[in-house]
Amino acid sequence: MPESRISLYYKNVSAGIIGSEHGITDGQFKELAEKTAPMIAKCNKQRADGVIPYRDLPYNKDYPASVKAVAEEIKDRCENFVVLGIGGSALGNIALQTALNPYMYNMDEDQRKGPRLFVFDNVDPTQLGSFIDWIGDKLDKTIFNVISKSGRTAETAAQFLVLRQLLLEKLGEEGFRKQVVATTDANAGTMRKVADEAKLRTLVVPDGVGGRFSVLSPVGLLSAAVCGIDIDELLAGARQMDELCSKEDFFANPAAINAAINWHYYNRQKPISVMMPYSYALKDMSDWYRQLWAESLGKTYDRQGEQVFVGPTPVKALGATDQHSQVQLYREGPNDKLFTFLQVKEFGRDVTIGSHPPTAPELEYLSGQKMSKLFNSEKLATEYALLHDKRPCMTVLFDRISPSTVGQFICLFEVTTSIAGLLFNIDAYDQPAVELGKEATFALMGRDDFAELAKKIEPFSEIDDTFLV
Ligand code: PA5
Repeated sequence: MPESRISLYYKNVSAGIIGSEHGITDGQFKELAEKTAPMIAKCNKQRADGVIPYRDLPYNKDYPASVKAVAEEIKDRCENFVVLGIGGSALGNIALQTALNPYMYNMDEDQRKGPRLFVFDNVDPTQLGSFIDWIGDKLDKTIFNVISKSGRTAETAAQFLVLRQLLLEKLGEEGFRKQVVATTDANAGTMRKVADEAKLRTLVVPDGVGGRFSVLSPVGLLSAAVCGIDIDELLAGARQMDELCSKEDFFANPAAINAAINWHYYNRQKPISVMMPYSYALKDMSDWYRQLWAESLGKTYDRQGEQVFVGPTPVKALGATDQHSQVQLYREGPNDKLFTFLQVKEFGRDVTIGSHPPTAPELEYLSGQKMSKLFNSEKLATEYALLHDKRPCMTVLFDRISPSTVGQFICLFEVTTSIAGLLFNIDAYDQPAVELGKEATFALMGRDDFAELAKKIEPFSEIDDTFLV
């Protein structure tokens, strides 16, 4: 198979295409290059200083080796592989699976190169209850991968406790030990204590790598490897993109251009960034991107401690589905969005549209055509319509979807986020605002050490009939 790559196409944000009121002029591109070049250098320096260790993940040899060793060891008793995690401990796993395994993967043994995969990233009792009913007699052929850096995240901890009890009841201590792999901090935290005490097999969440930047570590790699995804090719693709994203020449660096264009439009009354794949396989990549972008860039304070309340709002859409749901707003509503399409050149397979019945000659134009042509025509048609209304558009063009191009995409958006963080002058690697909600959950679930917080929440728990209609 020839090497495949992704490219960022950004002509359709230029003033030459959508006019100078909404487009970027040559002069503005020049200013963006001057503003962003020092940020590229700073990002490279942070990386050299070890401040952003996520950038070294594609080069790390120990993690894929440890992941493959576990995958090999569990494969004979693994018809089902279940990930328990949330946020950065689940979204990458889901995105890799949707992108790189067939749509019918779980249902079809012939299409499947590994066990069925289930990812539980919620605490809905109806969902987990239904799964428990189904998995009951298959526990000895099911591996549970609990992923939590801290181990104190209520959602993951609750799922883990439910399934731990089930395993202990049905398979005993030894069965529990054999069927669980914990991916967690190397030394500290609740999950590390639990895993060590129960002598669980463990993989490491690397130090200094936040959940949303961790998909290329054992967090995302184990479920991928177990389900037959070529993780070496995935990491090679990320390395390939990392080299491009390190280039100090702005116009040769796709992450710098992507970050700069997003930053520019945020400051030009376009604070919404829509990612719209024309590929079902890439649909969960926009979910992964949404967390990366939102948690990294949505901040109250800048790096000097000044209140700035900054952050573009990432929105996910899916072509062609959302043409029939969102495009009315996108074209005629406020011109406050930047659109990033994901487009695939070669789908790897195609479906031919059947012939039209004589009673419907108006469907003749479809007969005998390829579904891929229709899909990519719809992308171009939507983009054309948006450009007609002066809405800025970019496209990430995939030669095809493969572990390599998916690795490239992940790296492109991670480094884009880092450079955007520098342009916005905020810390892209913390998420202080997520904490209060986590702590309020502890309080509401009765943790003694959060009793004071529980009292503060109390007035909000009563439904006031005056306002109930
Ligand atoms: O990106 C992040 O840091 C978060 O989404 C975390 O991954 C998420 O909150 C889960 O945390 P933990 O892995 O500690 O359970």
